[in-house]
Amino acid sequence: MENFVAYNPVKLHFGKNAIDNLGFLASQFGKRVLLLYGKGSIKNNGIYERIIDSLILNNHEIYEYSGIKSNPIIEDVVKAVDKCKTNHIDLIVAVGGGSVIDSAKLISVCVKENIDPWQVMKNKIKPKTSIPLLCVLTLAATGSEMNPYAVIQNHATGEKIGYGHPLMYPKFSFLNPEFTYSVNKEYTAYGAVDIIAHVLESYFAAGEASLSDRFAISIIKEVMEFAPKAIAEPNNYDYRASLMWASTCALNGTTAYGRSASGDWGVHDIGHTLSFLYDIAHGASLSIAYPAWLKWLKTKNNSRIKELSLQLFGEPDTDKFIQELEKFFQSIQSPVKLSECNIDINKKDEIINLLTKNKISGYNYKLEPSDYKQIVDFMY
Ligand code: NZQ
Ligand code: ZN
Repeated sequence: MENFVAYNPVKLHFGKNAIDNLGFLASQFGKRVLLLYGKGSIKNNGIYERIIDSLILNNHEIYEYSGIKSNPIIEDVVKAVDKCKTNHIDLIVAVGGGSVIDSAKLISVCVKENIDPWQVMKNKIKPKTSIPLLCVLTLAATGSEMNPYAVIQNHATGEKIGYGHPLMYPKFSFLNPEFTYSVNKEYTAYGAVDIIAHVLESYFAAGEASLSDRFAISIIKEVMEFAPKAIAEPNNYDYRASLMWASTCALNGTTAYGRSASGDWGVHDIGHTLSFLYDIAHGASLSIAYPAWLKWLKTKNNSRIKELSLQLFGEPDTDKFIQELEKFFQSIQSPVKLSECNIDINKKDEIINLLTKNKISGYNYKLEPSDYKQIVDFMY
């Protein structure tokens, strides 16, 4: 096992009454709140009213920035930072999935200083301060609610990249599984894929950490059991709760302690390339990229895949394991081939060129330009 520091300061409120104290807890950070949300789902499912009521009850002044898109863009972050500065915002309440929460994290570290948010993402400027961030999670997927990472897209530079800093941990995250009842079956499935992908990224990091492996396997089993059930019965509290807690545990450190890095992350970076080019949902990009990457890895290092296969399915044959994984993704209707997202074969060079330009690689399993073609071929 490698040396590690275990640290996670996020206070998580989980359950049906999770947000009851939101307004009260927000009061300790100030009065002027920026409410950040997406394209409107929270207005259709009643979450917006519940949050506004809780904030008004505690005398908060509410300013809003909405319209954060899935696969969030830097332009929204810049505009929201300006809005915070103009209105002397004390804290942010982010309500949504990973896209909203990630945008809020980057906003929170740029409000008090004159810094370019993209320079922060590129690790050229280190944030020194932040304003407090409270999150209300509405979609089980990214784990952003309990980690310090943000993933943002920039059309001008041709990148979708991740960045992490301890100042970007939310102060509180509120997780009411009922808030995910309205997530459609597509995004429920993409979320499930993302959770599995996060623990696989940890599993394929360098170093031996058997307990982390067991956590990873348990999370995958949990998702494989409850994702199909939640899709079939979206208003079942226990199914939604199982997915929600699994999503948090998959990327809050639990599955990574004892390894030399938090994960390999090569597949995520391939997925980000697909999302950048074709705006496909994060989870959908991963159900295409993971099997393809495993088929590539099998030719380099079959033993780690075999361990996973044995622990998960008792199956020594890694080809069969990859097939099983694909079958699961297909069973919840997440795509496993680019053609299912209408990305036809003539896009192959475009994908390979962007992977090459951005030098996409994993931390543990390094990718060379010569590997891209093979992996992309497996995605068709
Ligand atoms: O915009 P609205 O109207 O809210 O609709 C959203 C959006 O269309 C909808 N939605 C969310 N909650 C809902 C709901 N619809 C109905 N009922 C609800 N309760 O779902 C759609 C997708 O939302 P989004 O936030 O984009 O999804 P997700 O949570 O999967 O986040 C994806 C983003 O997170 C990044 C991804 O790259 C992607 O940009 N990631 C962030 C990570 C992190 N911070 O640790 C790690 C991940 O690997 C990932 O990279
Ligand atoms: Zn992910």
